[in-house]
Amino acid sequence: MKKNIVLLPGDGIGQEVIQSAKQVLEALSEEYQHTFTYETHSIGGSAIDEHGTPLPEETISACHKADAVLLGAVGGPKWDQNPSHLRPEKGLLGIRKSLGLFANLRPVQGFDNLLHASPLKEEVVKDSDLLIVRELTGGLYFGTPSERSEDGESVVDTLAYERSEIERIVEKAFQAANIRRKHLTSVDKANVLESSKLWREVVEEKKADYPEVTVEHMLVDATAMKLITNPTYFDVIVTENMFGDILSDEASVLTGSLGMLPSASVREDSFGLYEPVHGSAPDIAGKGVANPLAMILSAALLLRHSFHLESEACLIESAVQHVLDEGYHTADLNIKDGQQVGTEKMTNLVIDYIKSNSATNSIMSC
Ligand code: NAD
Ligand code: IPM
Ligand code: MN
Repeated sequence: MKKNIVLLPGDGIGQEVIQSAKQVLEALSEEYQHTFTYETHSIGGSAIDEHGTPLPEETISACHKADAVLLGAVGGPKWDQNPSHLRPEKGLLGIRKSLGLFANLRPVQGFDNLLHASPLKEEVVKDSDLLIVRELTGGLYFGTPSERSEDGESVVDTLAYERSEIERIVEKAFQAANIRRKHLTSVDKANVLESSKLWREVVEEKKADYPEVTVEHMLVDATAMKLITNPTYFDVIVTENMFGDILSDEASVLTGSLGMLPSASVREDSFGLYEPVHGSAPDIAGKGVANPLAMILSAALLLRHSFHLESEACLIESAVQHVLDEGYHTADLNIKDGQQVGTEKMTNLVIDYIKSNSATNSIMSC
């Protein structure tokens, strides 16, 4: 298979972990005789430094031409005081919007050997396996007006949704629930927000199309509590942009680290941009200690969703599982036993497993 992948390293540890994902993809493509070509483009703070904008035109057009995109992370203290249009985060929001990636799929699945890495009790996190379906191109992040008054003393942000935007994300969530455990929790703040009331209406209308899926509505504050007291209660969660952002960082605690959560930003077709849930981690950037697994697992999502390479995706996931089972972990995972390794060593361990197991896993599914 011949495919062109655009790499957007971005800033901080984004630059480090994207190399890990690329090396894993290179090892895999060699084993399976695929031809993946890579083009690297700038986004975020590094694009501001090089081109004076967080999202250069050439980056946008390269992404539109690509078969899939991998993104590291954007942002950092260097640009924190910049005006809104010159913030690294604007680049990320802009590329999601430009590519029409309205659905961000964030699977949260605990690895057995990491159960004790979570500050939560093992019996609470054991068997947690949920999917957060986050709306990605609407809501507070994109509403207008979003501004400060001339005197600087008042501000406004707008939470806006069209019915059609809610319909398409809710549809994605129903589809996901239908092929999982058929339990959909729609999360909102319908006791206060008008947008949430419309959201509930849409979910209620759609449920007739999915009679096998059990649907419930849950307020976001209660969800935040239940997510860490009874995570196995959840199968698929669907929610608006900002609630999904917050709940997914919270959910990462189930897995032991934010450095474990991959994501797929997708639309109706099989194109996608694949990005870890975490950010540029300025506190550890440049030290070679970042956990590359969220980024590597995002590359697995790319292979599965955009290229329909299920065996290859499964092999990456098995490799991660195996390396963790062997006791290897990066410093973000609070584990006393086993062996702590850096980004490069962790990446090489994953690659070693791939190289020695590709032949036996040619028809693998997971
Ligand atoms: P962050 O996710 O970068 O880091 C939060 C904490 O988790 C830090 O202690 C960090 O060291 C740790 N961490 C995150 N990923 C890790 C990994 N792979 N390995 C080991 N430890 C990891 O969030 P933050 O500190 O609030 O934000 C830093 C910058 O990142 C900000 O500029 C923010 O806007 C940006 N950000 C970008 C994205 C993105 O590009 N998708 C996501 C979130 C935050
Ligand atoms: C994420 C990040 C981004 C978001 C920021 C950096 C704009 O937190 O991908 O989760 O909120 O979408
Ligand atoms: Mn986030």
